[in-house]
Order: sequence, then C-alpha cells, then structure tokens
Amino acid sequence: MSAQRETVRRLSAPDISALKGKTPIVCLTAYTAPMAEIMDEVCDILLVGDSVGMVLHGLDNTVGVTLEMMILHAQAVMRGSRRAMVVVDMPFGSYEGGPETAYANAVRVMKETGAQAIKVESGPAVADTIAYLVERGVPVMGHVGLRPQSVLVDGRFRARGRTNSEHEQVFEEARGAERAGAFAVVVEGVAESLARTLTAELSIPTIGIGASPACDGQVLVIDDMLGLFDWTPKFVRRYANLRAEIDQAVRAYAADVRARRFPGEAETYQLVKSA
Ligand code: KIV
Repeated sequence: MSAQRETVRRLSAPDISALKGKTPIVCLTAYTAPMAEIMDEVCDILLVGDSVGMVLHGLDNTVGVTLEMMILHAQAVMRGSRRAMVVVDMPFGSYEGGPETAYANAVRVMKETGAQAIKVESGPAVADTIAYLVERGVPVMGHVGLRPQSVLVDGRFRARGRTNSEHEQVFEEARGAERAGAFAVVVEGVAESLARTLTAELSIPTIGIGASPACDGQVLVIDDMLGLFDWTPKFVRRYANLRAEIDQAVRAYAADVRARRFPGEAETYQLVKSA
C-alpha cells in the first residue's frame, strides 16, 4: 500500500471572506498540476483563470476559451494542490445566457473538478445569476472593472473607473455582486481611489489586479510575474525572468546536440550483465 497523504484542509469561501481587514489575500493564476504544486503552500487562492486561453493556448483574447478547456486545467490544478482554495473562471458564453444555463455549467465545473468556487465577470446583467448560483450552493467570486471577456465590445483591454461616471458604474457592479452573495470580488484595472472606496465600503474582500495596494488581496497572472512574456502591463511586477532563462537553456541544449556533446556518458544506458 502506498504511504498515506497527510490530510490537509483546503481553504474555502468563508476562510477567504474572513481574511478581510486582517491579512492580505495572496492569489495567483494556475493552469497546470506542477505549477499548482509549487504555489499551493504559499497562495490562499489558485485561480484557474480563462487567461489560460491567451497564456497557454496562444489565443488573442479570452472569448474563445471553452468550458472543456477550463475543466481540463482545473482538474490538473486540483491534482497539484491540497491546501489553497481553487477558483475556476466561467468562460465567455457559459453563464451570461441566464441563471439556469449558468447553474448547469457551474455544477459541471464543480462536480468534474472538485474546485471550491467559480468566478464570473459581473456586469449588471449577471447579478441575478450570482444570487441564483449562491442560493443553490455554488460559491461565486465576482470580477469588476476591466472585464476581459468584454474586449470585443470595448474594442481593447482598457482600465475602467478612472472617470467619475465609470467610477459609479464599477462601484454599482461590485455592490451588485456583494448583494447577490459573492464571497469576494476581483477588481481589475481601476484607479486607486475607486479601489480604496470599494475596499472600505464592501463587506467582502476585494482582490486587485492593476487596482493599487488598497485592495484586500492581490492577484497576478503567474506567467506575467515570472517574466515569460516580452511585454507585461504596467501593473505587473516581474519576480523572475524565465523567458531569458528558457531561451538560454534551449540554445545550450541545441548547441550540445549539434556538437554531439549531449547525451554524454552520464545520460547513456549501457548493457547490463545478465546473471
Ligand atoms: O483570467 C484571469 O487570469 C483573471 C485574472 C486576471 C484575475 O481573471
């Protein structure tokens, strides 16, 4: 029999809500089992973001991401983690059509992945859906401000909440998510003053991305902060420069193969003497 794994209790929606006003909430996106394994111990939330479509699948935006893609990546993240709360993004088209479709799709995500919650980009049209889901046992995280799934309506990825009228609009979106029962809300690409107001006024945690240090927690796309892309948005801080390291490693490997330096003796099997 294999050694038993130590039982670790996963964080859940109430644990995250309880951190408001106490400890900053640490969240990163995760898409694969090995990366989830590295992040599990230090992150409160692993977000299986639909950014996976752009980050791992080379899409121009998140509109083409499917429910099947989200489920596959969420299953991998669940396998790689034990402690962090896993939140799965509902992709474009899987929840906006109405509460019943959203519920059926959310239940699929929860049952097939074992994740602890889902996230929806929460404009005014989605507040009723959040309430419907929460009343039926699906923990929901909202997402206001810059909503990447609206890129084709907005024309580009654009910070919001930097004018007075947008300030009010984003505030109402967040308030709507809170009233509907969301346990937390991602606030993306808004001015610091709005993030500060939202964090002070809402009873649920605000998790910022490009939304200043005023938020209750922070989230970044893992590949951005690891420096896997040439370009990163203003709000990203690079904690590593993996693109350069990978480039260097691949070039060294190619040079070794071409010069017949790889594989060497240490990497080569020899015939074993049979008894
Ligand atoms: O999809 C994603 O990665 C997200 C984060 C940017 C919050 O929604």
